[in-house]
Amino acid sequence: MSPPTTSRASLSALTHAAPVTAEASALRHVPRVLVVDDNPDTMSLMQELLETQGYNVVTVADAAQAEIEIRREFPDLILSDVIMPGKSGYELCRELKADPATRLIPFVLITGLADREDKLRGIEAGADDFLNKPIFSEELFARVNSLLRLKEFTDELENAESVLCTLGLSVESRDPYTEGHCERLAESAANLGRHLGLDEASIVALRRGGYLHDLGKIAVPDEILKKGSNLTQEEWAVMKLHPITGENICRPLKSLRLVLPIIRNHHEHSDGSGYPDGLRKNEIPLLPRILQVADVYDALRTARPYKPALSHEQAALTMQGEAQSGLWDEDLVKEFFSMLLQRVA
Ligand SMILES: [Fe+2]
Repeated sequence: MSPPTTSRASLSALTHAAPVTAEASALRHVPRVLVVDDNPDTMSLMQELLETQGYNVVTVADAAQAEIEIRREFPDLILSDVIMPGKSGYELCRELKADPATRLIPFVLITGLADREDKLRGIEAGADDFLNKPIFSEELFARVNSLLRLKEFTDELENAESVLCTLGLSVESRDPYTEGHCERLAESAANLGRHLGLDEASIVALRRGGYLHDLGKIAVPDEILKKGSNLTQEEWAVMKLHPITGENICRPLKSLRLVLPIIRNHHEHSDGSGYPDGLRKNEIPLLPRILQVADVYDALRTARPYKPALSHEQAALTMQGEAQSGLWDEDLVKEFFSMLLQRVA
């Protein structure tokens, strides 16, 4: 067999490969590891070991300093001692896992205690993993590597979601009369979900739904989108595709699973006259029904080129009437207004 030959094109690609690789490695994110330990020997041992792996290591002696450091810049991983002056490692872990902004940062408890009870307490506090003292470098590297890889995937997922939400906002910005609608909708749909006592995952889905429900309008041409009303039959047909287009864009992201029905079914009506599926009453999943109520209220309270803004009382009367005539979920409309009353009380 003759040896492989290098063509001019592939040679050129090879000669250009080095600077590209250098550029890529310069852009690569260096993981930031926070070590929380009041024992200076353990602290410096961990720092030395982790720095040999190329990590950016920050060390602090207690939970209070850790909190300052975390707020200053989120670490990619936290390794914390259990028993420290002030707050314990369990308390620090529990607090970070309860905060949506920090709960995805992997937290490893370093314990000198082989006691099963202590490990259980750590699991209850939400720790992602444990390291036993004395620390062995192989074990430390294996744990840290695998948790940082996991964190990288979570970050990518979060980035993909925020790109989609930004796209949702850019769709909104094509219609200057709807400015701020997505943020308001995200907020009030999540509030209604909370008022109804839904779980955290559903509330997060409602908030995301506020940004993503009209994402499919990205495929609707400007001349149709900006016309607002008096669409021809053909133009309506294009407009009515936006829930399906939006659902198709978001479907590959498993983390948006609960948001998909919101995107697909936010234009259904209780009497079956909505689109795209013509669902009736309880056939329409709960989350899109909730978003709808918040959406309609915001639309009624906002001025558009073809209509003035209604007062709160006018909006309430209109929505109750529309709910009775078969457009919206009557019970949810009631709940929405009782929530607004409670909030101003
Ligand atoms: Fe829509």
